[in-house]
Amino acid sequence: MEKTGNFQEGIHLVEYEKKYRAKLIQNSGISDYGREKESLDGFWNYAIDQYDTCLRQKWFEEIYENENGLEYPMDFSFDTWERMRVPSCWNTQKELLHLYEGTIVYTRRFKYKNHGEDRVFIKIGAANYQSVVFVNKQHMGTHLGGDTPFFIEVTDVLQKDNRIIIAVNNTRRRTNVPCENTDWFNYGGIHRSVEILRLPKAFIQDFKINLQRGSDFKKIDAAVCINGSESGTAKLSIPQLGVNAEIPITGGKGRITIDAAPRLWDVENPTLYDVHIAFENDSITEKIGFREITVNGEDILLNGKKIFLRGICTHEESVENGRAVTEEEIRTNYRLAKEMNCNFMRLAHYPHTEKAAQIADEIGMLLWEEIPVYWAIEFDNPATYADAENQLQELIHRDYNRASVIIWSVGNENEDTNSRLTFMSKLAKTAKTTDPSRLISAACLYDLHQYKILDRLCAHVDVIGINEYFGWYNPDFSQLLRLFENSNPNKPVIISEFGACAMPHMRGTKDELFTEDKQLHVFQQQIEAFKAAPPYLSGVSPWIFFDFRCPRRTNVLQGYYNRKGLLSPDKKHKKLAFYAMQEFYGDLNNQ
Ligand code: GCU
Repeated sequence: MEKTGNFQEGIHLVEYEKKYRAKLIQNSGISDYGREKESLDGFWNYAIDQYDTCLRQKWFEEIYENENGLEYPMDFSFDTWERMRVPSCWNTQKELLHLYEGTIVYTRRFKYKNHGEDRVFIKIGAANYQSVVFVNKQHMGTHLGGDTPFFIEVTDVLQKDNRIIIAVNNTRRRTNVPCENTDWFNYGGIHRSVEILRLPKAFIQDFKINLQRGSDFKKIDAAVCINGSESGTAKLSIPQLGVNAEIPITGGKGRITIDAAPRLWDVENPTLYDVHIAFENDSITEKIGFREITVNGEDILLNGKKIFLRGICTHEESVENGRAVTEEEIRTNYRLAKEMNCNFMRLAHYPHTEKAAQIADEIGMLLWEEIPVYWAIEFDNPATYADAENQLQELIHRDYNRASVIIWSVGNENEDTNSRLTFMSKLAKTAKTTDPSRLISAACLYDLHQYKILDRLCAHVDVIGINEYFGWYNPDFSQLLRLFENSNPNKPVIISEFGACAMPHMRGTKDELFTEDKQLHVFQQQIEAFKAAPPYLSGVSPWIFFDFRCPRRTNVLQGYYNRKGLLSPDKKHKKLAFYAMQEFYGDLNNQ
């Protein structure tokens, strides 16, 4: 069809998204932790594009006149649009956009001058949910998934002056991961940094390193994938361990096992080593902790010693920044978690920023990371599975080298149906195959009639997560002990959620709903049950660290917040139950 600028071509087009979704950006990860990157963060121009006119009318082609030089009337004005900070969640940037769900078109110009590199990539740290990316009038690809990084090669399209356009759509959809119904706020936007990577022709696309399981902590496995060369030799060095090794590259890949006895990383001693990997003109330096996480019967072993996970669940949110949390906010959360005597955090229900695992490596905290296969996903939809699996692969690629991450979770609270079992057992197998060095889990539900752990997914994971709300959604508390007695999982179980709501500062009787006293009473009963639990209980993580925005919670006390936090939304007030967990975990830690 002839180019008609911004008029007739777009108004009859119904399936306009199809061609953009035909070019999905998947598995695009580049090992970039420790690499120098140039930031494209700052104020970008933006428009609220409720009808997806940018994609329908192809604004990105910037056809301003016809073949005779006569001007077309344009419905957009990229460089004179209003401006929005990137990274940010648009919901926190403009009052008008607080509840907006749809497309926002972001654009900015940037200059490029070659500094001797052969290849250039643009990294988008995360954008919720669908991102359609254009550079210099060309559609570079479309990414699905709101919380994992993706990389786009722009080597051949860059000029001296460049324009990038990203149409971000956060509409909740039945076929997305998560689907249209969740228990958290649907933030939108480019909520993690946008950066430029300058790379040589052949570069290190993927570098993985870990202590070899069962090597008595005396062998280290390393694997490297090269983009741009089939053969050659990579060089691995760990100066503090006296390691200098060569890794032959064949078919673009190489792996090696080296003898080394590193000081083991753990929560109390989060020892990190400078690890250098180089190939021809490319090199990366990462800070790596060496530890082993395994299960033995019903026990979880960290570095060969049984460990009880003293956890807390947390969303990724701050009052001021929504999902786009700052490094300071992450560090505050870890400080408060350690104050509660935690050694473990469940980063629910989607991949948090890579900074979370990087800082956890540094300060010593064990992490459960999760993809948002949450509640009633469209389990019999192959495109939905491909989206979920891609998010899992992007998460594992991003955080593989982070010692703090011990568990990959493939989902949360899904009904035990045949299509769900097929979908999630395949995800669990993919996670295990991609990363045999970690534990695979999921937050499952117990059988509501038999009060027993019967979820068929349990056979496919290393550690079983169980969400239970005895004392809250299920007021009859005695059933928790019945659940423990009735179940014989033959593998470690973590109570991955339990809790109750409490309005910060609201006091009353132990039975008065939404008071801190009621929440405390529920926690005290839960703690008593944990103390009497069978040995297969290997950890607990209350729901949740702090009150968080939630459109489903509308009673006058909740005020569109889920109030199960042990802290107020601003993390400034500790509810009574915080101290109950602090004491319980403190006693466990001193045993
Ligand atoms: C569920 C779910 C959470 C939710 C919580 C609640 O278990 O996993 O995402 O917020 O219960 O109802 O508060």
